[in-house]
Amino acid sequence: MENLKFSYPDTDKEALQGIDLQVPEGQCMAVLGSNGGGKSTLAKLIAGLLLPTAGRVSVFGNELSSSQNREAVAGRIGLVFQSPDEQMVATTVERELAFGPENLGLPSEEIRRRVDHLMNRFDLTEYANRSPHTLSGGEKQRLALASVLAMQPELLILDEVTSLLDPAGRQEIRNIIKELKRECTLILITQFPREALFADRLIVINDGRIVADDSPVLVFENLDKETASGIAPPLAFQLLNALNPANNPTENN
Ligand SMILES: Nc1ncnc2c1ncn2[C@@H]1O[C@H](COP(=O)(O)OP(=O)(O)OP(=O)(O)O)[C@@H](O)[C@H]1O
Ligand SMILES: [Mg+2]
Repeated sequence: MENLKFSYPDTDKEALQGIDLQVPEGQCMAVLGSNGGGKSTLAKLIAGLLLPTAGRVSVFGNELSSSQNREAVAGRIGLVFQSPDEQMVATTVERELAFGPENLGLPSEEIRRRVDHLMNRFDLTEYANRSPHTLSGGEKQRLALASVLAMQPELLILDEVTSLLDPAGRQEIRNIIKELKRECTLILITQFPREALFADRLIVINDGRIVADDSPVLVFENLDKETASGIAPPLAFQLLNALNPANNPTENN
């Protein structure tokens, strides 16, 4: 992304005010930031769902300004949102998983292989013939993730996928995300600072600008008034800091 700007129609405020960012292949990058800071807007621009007002965004070497280029990369980018209900299109779990691969025009044996593998991996086999809408929130989000992975995206963007789940469902999805990190380039937008800890890199976006960009530990160590805006470092991190003798010089002896 180069000087990437975006304003929604009929608004006078820029949702993104000039983003310069390079995400190398294979990286897991977490994104934290204030509400309304522009995180989801950035995700949609990278996925080609919105077009920049100014500046450039390129994915896999294709600038996403033309519809041909957006089509060329569409099947290589997966995007999962926070609310799984909006992503369900099919009448059964199995058909939901087959939907993306069918659209990619894959041979039916390959579709069968992927669907079976993902139902197994995401513990969905017993729900194969159920309607997605009868699943629990956590099960639906597992299905939403599996459906996107069925297309084997090289870049996966997860936009607050754990935020509507109960603690058990959230933990399940977090465990899956940790595995996905090894499989593709991952952009992990989250409202939970602890989820940023397992990323290689963390950026903080406030008011349409990147205000921090470093390893998660260094970002949390260096949070100041401008960059923090409501972000508290994860509890484990606060404890570690509190126990570090360098931070408690008077108790050093
Ligand atoms: N469809 C829209 N029309 C007009 N303005 C919008 C629209 N969607 C978002 N905005 C505005 O754009 C700015 C960035 O919103 P965005 O949803 O990208 O932020 P976010 O960082 O994802 O926030 P959150 O943490 O709440 O998910 C906000 O000021 C928001 O009000
Ligand atoms: Mg958002």
